[in-house]
Amino acid sequence: AEYDLLVLNGVVVTDQETGNFDIAVKDGKIAKVVPRGSFDGAKATKTIDAEGAMVMPGGIDAHVHLAEPALFGKGQSADNYESGTRSAISGGTTTLITFAPQRKSEPSLLAALEATHALARDNCYTDYSFHLICSNAGPQAISEFKALREAGISSLKIYMTYLQDSEILDVLFEARKQKIVTMIHAENGAIIDWTIKKLEEKKLFAPKYHATSHPPVAEIEATYRAVSLSEFIDVPILIVHVSSPAAAKHISDAQKRGLPVYAETCPQYLFLTRKDLDKPGFEGAKCVCSPPPREGEQDHEGIWQGLEDGTFTVLSSDHCPFIYDNTEIGKKSCIDSEYPNGHFKYIPNGCPGVETRLSLAFSANRLKLQKFVEVTSTNAAKLYGLYPRKGALLAGVSDADLTIWYPDGTKEFELTNSMLHHNVDYTPYEGRTMKQWPRYTVLRGEVVWAKDEGGLVASKKGFGQFLKRDASSLAGSRSQEEWNVENF
Ligand code: URP
Ligand code: ZN
Ligand code: ZN
Ligand code: ZN
Repeated sequence: AEYDLLVLNGVVVTDQETGNFDIAVKDGKIAKVVPRGSFDGAKATKTIDAEGAMVMPGGIDAHVHLAEPALFGKGQSADNYESGTRSAISGGTTTLITFAPQRKSEPSLLAALEATHALARDNCYTDYSFHLICSNAGPQAISEFKALREAGISSLKIYMTYLQDSEILDVLFEARKQKIVTMIHAENGAIIDWTIKKLEEKKLFAPKYHATSHPPVAEIEATYRAVSLSEFIDVPILIVHVSSPAAAKHISDAQKRGLPVYAETCPQYLFLTRKDLDKPGFEGAKCVCSPPPREGEQDHEGIWQGLEDGTFTVLSSDHCPFIYDNTEIGKKSCIDSEYPNGHFKYIPNGCPGVETRLSLAFSANRLKLQKFVEVTSTNAAKLYGLYPRKGALLAGVSDADLTIWYPDGTKEFELTNSMLHHNVDYTPYEGRTMKQWPRYTVLRGEVVWAKDEGGLVASKKGFGQFLKRDASSLAGSRSQEEWNVENF
């Protein structure tokens, strides 16, 4: 046959345009994108009739934790590379960038990279890459940035809760030289720890006090400090999982001043609130993440606005699911003899969401379609050095990664956890009315998810490939010259 796959009668949406186009795929790549009807009579091994539905570049989720030890709280990661990528592909996401965590006691980043490769290799349903988590920013880690770039890693994440500002400057300084994007978890650790002590003195341990101990001001302060450190070194940063509109304001102010400050938000800051942490019994624990869901509608509104106006570059899941039940002690991991009713500080932080990210945002019907593609796919590819192989539908250039939806108005349903493919027994979005779900997911020309034909194509485990990444194609340092202390 002339082509491996034809996708006919779709409304193709990219970040750039929307139109009635047919798509031909050959050898895993987009071969042609042409006006509807152009392929009449063409021969293909497989044909999908999109029946007028939206066809988009495959989703890219650039913030996913799989098989990582808990950083805050006690618990075991629920998803490994197999179950996490299986969940992703079933929700229309074809590329994940997960984290390779360096332990504080481990001076090397390259060792963390190798260990994470071993977990992912031959296990993935999606294509994948890693951001290194730099927990120990000592001289060995810093000296390895160059080798990381050679190994195809062009981003790393740091926690302001763990690193001193001087260590952050060390990281940013070398990141500038090596053209690495530094992702920053911006919360003030002292405010958090101090508030936890105050709550403990009053014996306030319920899950909702997690939100009390991570107040907006902890995020707002750290965000402005991160912007300042990045401005001083003149290096791009990405503030991860922004929850507070006031923190977003610091980011958009920096952007208006021309600084290469990028930002990410997540569905939990669009759909959950602090009240979700106050559900009865242990239910509230399921929505504990850092930063926590904020007060209410006004916060959601501010975050949606940030997506619309470009303050946020990407909408990622921050999928970070935990198993709470500790088989060794036969109880939930936040429950021990000292805290028989549990303690919020031992609830592991993070929620599942890799499978629901696209459908939640699409069903909300809030973003213009091209903006939706930009923040859920294209911008992640650009920011993290995968564009235009990923995040685009450029003939002869882009991988044939597609998310194909249902025709308008045919797929309203109530979300339940039993529909999902992660290894967790809950979703924070249980019972929500969804207007859409991906009907097909295509990775490099292979149909890996076909909802009406049995769903997941199980034989595709291991089809996912490691992606070597280049430097970001979004704006970098403002000056091309070497950083010189005398300039400041
Ligand atoms: O609560 C969260 N977000 N857990 C994952 C770790 C992180 O900081 O992203
Ligand atoms: Zn974080
Ligand atoms: Zn809302
Ligand atoms: Zn995270």
